[in-house]
Amino acid sequence: MDRERLAGLIVDNTAWLARNLFFYEETGSTNEDIKQLAKEGAADGTLVVADMQTAGRGRRGRDWFSPKGESIYMSLLLRPKCMPNQASALTLVMALAVLEAIEEIVPGMCGIKWPNDIVINGKKVCGILTEMGLKHNEIDYVVIGVGINVNQSSFAEEIATTATSIALECGTKMERAELIGRVLYYFEQEYARFEKTYDLTGLVDRYNQYLLNKERQVRVLDPKGEYEGIALGINSQGELLVKCQSGEMIEVYAGEVSVRGIYGYV
Ligand code: BTN
Repeated sequence: MDRERLAGLIVDNTAWLARNLFFYEETGSTNEDIKQLAKEGAADGTLVVADMQTAGRGRRGRDWFSPKGESIYMSLLLRPKCMPNQASALTLVMALAVLEAIEEIVPGMCGIKWPNDIVINGKKVCGILTEMGLKHNEIDYVVIGVGINVNQSSFAEEIATTATSIALECGTKMERAELIGRVLYYFEQEYARFEKTYDLTGLVDRYNQYLLNKERQVRVLDPKGEYEGIALGINSQGELLVKCQSGEMIEVYAGEVSVRGIYGYV
């Protein structure tokens, strides 16, 4: 990936995001880079992009396989003026933006597995790891880390049953810098909607339209006890509404909980 071309595409696609851009051929984790930059006072909208990561991290302490040259690894620094509990919805804002950017190139192929995995043909092509830094109980920074499997033609055996790339599923190779530009374009639009209410009121309908779990039986893996029900969609807080067999409606908050389809990953 060429830094100058990436910078040019970002300027073409956005009004203010990522004007402060860092591009690394190799790094540990772009989320860690952003956290460091945030602590040093980096501006709202700072972006770190890397061509490979040696310590890429996923949710729940998992590793994120980050080989060179074929995927997108990027992290965005935001300093939203909202409460910490409202900022967790930003991970869904980014999921919608990534989906809209991919949709534009390969329409009708992808959906969202709640809360923030982008899925094609039942396998994951994108994961998002959102982390927050607080100062005196207020948000100091939010980092949204995005990993998109773009052009890989194979995956390690241990992840091949659940992971895939856009190229593998759609037969279309994409220029990563161009896709980053389009993701940021959509994120800027969606983030402006989020900032009006500091929740997902302006995004819920479109998010739910792409939600693969909608109207499907799901198993909620809650550390306090597992249960099953029908997923109805998200509310304006980004919680998944699940109607249990008992008729009770539960608002599932992403935090510690994960959701599986009863026949597989979605
Ligand atoms: C998940 O587990 O689904 C989230 C994966 C997030 C991976 C991205 S790659 C860029 C950023 N840097 C990291 O170390 N993780 C995120």
